Amino acid sequence: MKVTFIGHAAVEIKTEKHSLLIDPFITGNPVAKHKPEDFQPDAILLTHGHADHLGDAIPISKRTGAPIIAIFELATYCQSQGAKAIGMNIGGPSRFAFGTVQLTPAVHSSSHDGHYLGEPCGIVLTTLENKKIYHAGDTALFGDMALIGKLGLDLAFLPIGSYYTMDPDAAVEAVQLLKPKIVIPIHYNTLPAIQQDPQQFRAKVESRTETKVIILHPGETTTI
Ligand code: NI
Ligand code: MN
Repeated sequence: MKVTFIGHAAVEIKTEKHSLLIDPFITGNPVAKHKPEDFQPDAILLTHGHADHLGDAIPISKRTGAPIIAIFELATYCQSQGAKAIGMNIGGPSRFAFGTVQLTPAVHSSSHDGHYLGEPCGIVLTTLENKKIYHAGDTALFGDMALIGKLGLDLAFLPIGSYYTMDPDAAVEAVQLLKPKIVIPIHYNTLPAIQQDPQQFRAKVESRTETKVIILHPGETTTI
């Protein structure tokens, strides 16, 4: 599969037959090299409703007809704005044409424009090729990451920016609980409050665990 880091927490996953967007914050994202029109997703997955994650999800859904898949309250909000959306909840997995989606807990908050938008989540996506991908969304470190790790993760996107989420040292602990084959750090160097050195994070992870860290610059794609 091809993984593109759009910037911040926004990623595109391209499998053999499907394209999926997670947290497509593109318009107004100071580091993004793409435009929303560059993407033709089959589905848009959202971790929570904050503007830097909801991003362009609603206009992309309206343009392409791709459903937004998110926790019930956030999906209902997207429907109220004219997007196609499928609401689920923490648990699962739920089956779709492109694979399965499980929403996991995240330790964070979720609202938009004064609306409470349900619990914040992480996402476990299992592709038809049976690759398991965890996008942690915005979260602090929590012990139940060990349970998510039991699923057998091929790839994890973990926030390292601090201030709103885990910092790099907490993310190293998260890697020890999740035991993914590969980690891609996200949610850093987008705003002044979340400046971090991903090379230091990589050095710590690779000295203490078996996990490989891939650092992608916004706009870059890697094949996994
Ligand atoms: Ni957030
Ligand atoms: Mn965020």
